This record gives sequence, structure tokens and C-alpha cells, in this order.
Amino acid sequence: MLNAIVFGATSGIGKQLAAYLVADGYRVGITGRRLQLLNTIKATKPSQYFVWENDVQDILNTEAVFKQIVDEFESISLVVHCSGIGYENPELDWHKEYNTIKTNVLGATRIYDLAFNLFKKQGFGQLVSISSIASLRGNRFSPSYFASKAYQVNYLESLYFKSKEIVGGKVYITDIRPGYVDTAMALGNDIFWMASLEKASRQIYLAIKRKKRRVYISKRWNFIAWILKIVPSWLMKKVM
Ligand SMILES: NC(=O)c1ccc[n+]([C@@H]2O[C@H](COP(=O)([O-])OP(=O)(O)OC[C@H]3O[C@@H](n4cnc5c(N)ncnc54)[C@H](OP(=O)(O)O)[C@@H]3O)[C@@H](O)[C@H]2O)c1
Repeated sequence: MLNAIVFGATSGIGKQLAAYLVADGYRVGITGRRLQLLNTIKATKPSQYFVWENDVQDILNTEAVFKQIVDEFESISLVVHCSGIGYENPELDWHKEYNTIKTNVLGATRIYDLAFNLFKKQGFGQLVSISSIASLRGNRFSPSYFASKAYQVNYLESLYFKSKEIVGGKVYITDIRPGYVDTAMALGNDIFWMASLEKASRQIYLAIKRKKRRVYISKRWNFIAWILKIVPSWLMKKVM
């Protein structure tokens, strides 16, 4: 049987991806802080969902949970990292900035490394992380969120490079970069090109199955990404 872990499976993209995995026959370790939501999900397929309460800001707990899941499943072919937060924070409230960094940078790094080292030992596995189109530029309303996503993207690329150290070529790193998806996370008031959760998750799941290196979700964000990469900072400052 195939086994997976979804970090951040209580809601949104993670919850939807976990459901697709269960439908495809996986046993899935689902994690997050809201235990009650995890138990409600488990009740829909008790034999395939396995619940672990976890706050990714608590590094020791994340390590312990990861070890418990590996012990339970013995091998894991897929780790999906969906846990993330972001705020509109024009006042640069430190609590919000710090919280974002602890979740999206510290917590993410620990999960990336735990997954990578497991896959190195196993000789196979796929690490998927939901970064964002936000990784491409700075933003004056949500500096820590946009910077944390740039960090994630660069760390994932480093792991992709590092995967050449693993004999056999069966370790894959997949960086998913959504635009706006209709979840509790979607930041901002003037949201355009918002993809439904179902549409975005379907495209993400397809990209995971195809073991893509990176993908923009939905496809139309490829065009925005191209523009974002060439627009000079002075123009961004003027219009954004
Ligand atoms: N929605 C968008 O427009 C969009 C666009 C680009 C990228 N993304 C990225 O997609 C990812 C998933 O977000 P979503 O849109 O699906 O929003 P969501 O429904 O709010 O999901 C976020 C998930 O992260 C978990 N999480 C947050 N803080 C955590 C912590 N400290 N410890 C453990 N789990 C934590 C939440 O679980 P608990 O609260 O139960 O802990 C929840 O399961 C995020 O990384 C987000 O940045 C979203």
C-alpha cells in the first residue's frame, strides 16, 4: 500500500489533496493544529486517514510526529507540505511577521529536511510543497509572506539540486506555485483570477502525479509569472 503525509490537512488545499490520495488508495497521515477537524476527516475513511495533531512551529513536536508516522507506515512515498499562514500586515506588526516566519520558514524547513533525509535513506520519495506566485517579488502589504515564499522556492530548488546525491534518481521535489485559490488563506480584497478549491487542487494533484518540478496554478498564472519576472522594481513600486 502507498503511504503519504499531508502537513496542513485540516482545511483548504491540503484537505482536498488528502482526499484525492485516499480515493487513489493511499494511507494518509493528516496533520494540523485543529484536532477536531482532523477527526472529522478521519471519520469519512477511518482505515485510510491517520491523525496526528501538530503545530509546525513546535520543531520538536514536528520531529516526533514525523517519526511516529514513519514508524506506523514503515515507508512513505509522498510528503505534501501545505501548512502555511499569511497576513496583510501593512503596519509590520511584529507578532504577525514572526508568526509567519516561524510557520512558513522554520516549520517548513524542518519538514523539508525530515522528508529529504527519509527519502535519501529509502532511495525513493516525492516532496511536494505549496509555495506561491508570491515567491517571485516583494510586496508592501505582506512582506514576510512574500519573502517566506521566496525562501521556500529557493530551498526546494536546493533540495532538487541535492537530490543528485541520491543514487537511483527516484527522489522528486515538486514546487507548486498557486495564484489565488478560494480558501481561508487567500490574501487581499481585490482578488482576481481566483481559482475554485476543486479546480486548483485537481491541477495540483495532476502535477504531483506527473512528478513536475514546478507548476503555476491555475495555468493562466504562467503568464503573470512571466510578467512579474521582467517588470523593473521602480515600475512595481509605482503600480502596486
Ligand atoms: N489560498 C491561496 O490563495 C494560496 C495561494 C498561494 C499559496 N497558498 C499556500 O497554500 C498553502 C495551503 O493554504 P490554503 O490556501 O489551503 O489555506 P488554509 O485552508 O488556511 O490551510 C492552511 C493549512 O495550514 C495549516 N497550518 C497553519 N499554521 C499551522 C501550524 N502552525 N502548524 C500546523 N499546521 C498549520 C492549517 O491547519 P491548522 O490551522 O489546523 O493548524 C491548514 O491546514 C499555504 O502554504 C498557502 O501559503 C495559498
